[in-house]
Amino acid sequence: MSDFQTVCKVGDIPQGEGRTVQVGGKLIALFHVDGQYHAIDDTCPHMGASLSGGYVESGIVTCPWHAWRYRLADGAWADNPKLKIGCYAVRVEGDLVQIQAPAANPENKT
Ligand code: FES
Repeated sequence: MSDFQTVCKVGDIPQGEGRTVQVGGKLIALFHVDGQYHAIDDTCPHMGASLSGGYVESGIVTCPWHAWRYRLADGAWADNPKLKIGCYAVRVEGDLVQIQAPAANPENKT
């Protein structure tokens, strides 16, 4: 079972914006939208842009480089939901925002 790790405080990320955080050696884009937090992989699988800097609207972030779109709720590619990037559980404990660390990948031992 993966542990939750504190990544920032409530209020650190303005409403409607995202920020890149590192959890378990992985870069994750954390978004604050409509009073809720969402965490998905930060690296766009197309050519590697940081999704935390993307435009957010209606629960979808648009990649700042070539406009691929991902749902914040589950990491699905909005134009073909069969394809997904990583999506992680987020919780608020007091004034701390915490993300559930991704499970270790046994194929990535470096
Ligand atoms: S790098 Fe994200 S759409 Fe191209």
